[in-house]
Amino acid sequence: MEYTLATMNDLPAIKALLARYHKDTISQEDIAGGFVTTKLSDQQFEDLIVNRKGVTLAKDENGTVKAFALAAGWDYWMQVPIMKRMTEVLPDMPFEGTALDETNTYQYGPVCVDVSVRGTGVFEGIFKASLKQFEDQYPVMVTFINQINGRSYAAHTKKAHMTEIGTFDFNNNHYWMMAIKTR
Ligand SMILES: CC(C)(COP(=O)(O)OP(=O)(O)OC[C@H]1O[C@@H](n2cnc3c(N)ncnc32)[C@H](O)[C@@H]1OP(=O)(O)O)[C@@H](O)C(=O)NCCC(=O)NCCS
Repeated sequence: MEYTLATMNDLPAIKALLARYHKDTISQEDIAGGFVTTKLSDQQFEDLIVNRKGVTLAKDENGTVKAFALAAGWDYWMQVPIMKRMTEVLPDMPFEGTALDETNTYQYGPVCVDVSVRGTGVFEGIFKASLKQFEDQYPVMVTFINQINGRSYAAHTKKAHMTEIGTFDFNNNHYWMMAIKTR
């Protein structure tokens, strides 16, 4: 598996993977393996890919996109309502003695790993590659996980070694807030 930054040529494959695991379009069969709720327009994807270098991919030996992880600073994510909410609650959730805010953290996620390569180490690989991409810019990465997404929570705590630093509610859903040092 190759871990690489996305270019605009990858956008159709990224959108197809996102659609497969998005709560609005996921199949009954796939839903137990987790789902994502974030939607981005083509213009927002272009900004993330081209200007922010915020889309990390896992590609197999045929060049097929098998996973993506999105990440960016809060100035980018402020346009997504749940992320704006995260910036409001973050100051109440210190991590390892450090107060977190919009300057010392960035937001990773959503992440999607195709069902054909789940449990094979691709999740750990893309997680590490995405974290490395931002380590020079921010000391701490944070993300959110829906409390009904047990698979994602297990992956992010057991495989990615993230720490739960608090909980918050948004749109009648309950979320865990997770953090990890980038180095
Ligand atoms: C979440 C996701 C990225 C994790 O990647 P993955 O390759 O499935 O992760 P892994 O299989 O390495 O690890 C998941 C662990 O959770 C366990 N697990 C599976 N279903 C579970 C459940 N319902 N509750 C708790 N643990 C569960 C697995 O057994 C595995 O642990 P193990 O290796 O010790 O057996 C991937 O499943 C995915 O893309 N899901 C759809 C989209 C999504 O939910 N994205 C995250 C949004 S926050």
